[in-house]
Amino acid sequence: MSMMLTLTREEQRMFDGELGEAVRESMEILVALGRIYGARRMVPITSAQVSGVSYKTIGDAGLEYLADLAAKGAKVRVPTFLNPAGMDTEQWQRMKIPRDFAAKQVKVLDAYGKMGISKTCTCAPYFIGIRPKKGDHVAWAESSAVAFANSVLGARTNREGGPSALAAAICGLTPYYGLHMPENRKAGLVVKVNCALKTIADFGALGTAIGKLAKNKHPAFVGIRSASEPQLKVLGASMAASGSVPLFFIDGITPEYALTDNPEIMVFDEADLRKTREGMDSRLKPDLVTIGCPHASIQEIKDVARIVGKKKPTCEFWVCTARKIKDEADKLGLTKTIEEAGGLVVADTCMVVCPLEEMGHIVTGTNSGKAAAYLPNLCKQKVAFGDIEDILYR
Ligand code: F3S
Repeated sequence: MSMMLTLTREEQRMFDGELGEAVRESMEILVALGRIYGARRMVPITSAQVSGVSYKTIGDAGLEYLADLAAKGAKVRVPTFLNPAGMDTEQWQRMKIPRDFAAKQVKVLDAYGKMGISKTCTCAPYFIGIRPKKGDHVAWAESSAVAFANSVLGARTNREGGPSALAAAICGLTPYYGLHMPENRKAGLVVKVNCALKTIADFGALGTAIGKLAKNKHPAFVGIRSASEPQLKVLGASMAASGSVPLFFIDGITPEYALTDNPEIMVFDEADLRKTREGMDSRLKPDLVTIGCPHASIQEIKDVARIVGKKKPTCEFWVCTARKIKDEADKLGLTKTIEEAGGLVVADTCMVVCPLEEMGHIVTGTNSGKAAAYLPNLCKQKVAFGDIEDILYR
């Protein structure tokens, strides 16, 4: 079997360094990836989403790499957006972020800015109008954003790493393999959902359970009658966290629904939901509740404001979101309601990528299966998992 990656003339020029060192290095990454995965060509992308933004996750080595690339004149060729950083760039002191950390974080963001990347700092770009169309090829990196782009929007992206998404952004291309090809966008696992899913936490639990069972198969759900975008976002994020799932379908809801010839079939019922939820929850009282994993939509912030406006929560809490959504929440008076109830609307960052463990927290509450999966290892937290009405008032 001969599989050759063929480059166009323009791509070859990029590879040969005729468009500068940064493009050459980036093309080298894309060609290497393409060869590993048997791609035969490159495909132009309409946008890129770059992860590896928090100083906590990339450290000094990452910062040096980015600063070096920016100094070589790297510029992105397509609209490119950043994943969350390690702090709110305006409220970091209020969040009790250590000063040294903040200084390094600013340098990381500056390097990305020099390359022409929008400092959106969100894992839910689709809530701030960045919504690729069905069939668009993109190179997105953050796992929950990848799941949403593929599954809910019908765009096509592999789960890129930080460097490969950045290389794709600089070249405007990505190797054509994996989920860019229609034949690979088929579900090998059908999940019959035999119970009502009412809240975001229910979708988080379903995602956590199915992500673990999916192995390398894409799941297709039947029996889910309705799902809001925040619920779909948490379903995808939770499956991506527990099982690296980059694509799922829901019969009657997602724009695509295709099965392999002999899909495995399983049932998820009321007892499974209860058992999964119980297994994710330490039942401890949280000292901090974090809502917005992935980043909250304006509707979710309205819901939180409505709840805490009636009764003050018994612990500190954050709502994590994109800067643009926070600005809207400020204008609508939602931030004020939340702050008066002892909370904070946090932009640019989240509970997992900020240095939570250095800020004195021990038990963190969440309604997201993704945060529940990552908080113990990445932030040394015990997890209180449940609906927001439960975890805010435990
Ligand atoms: Fe986003 Fe942080 Fe969750 S990056 S998906 S809020 S862990």
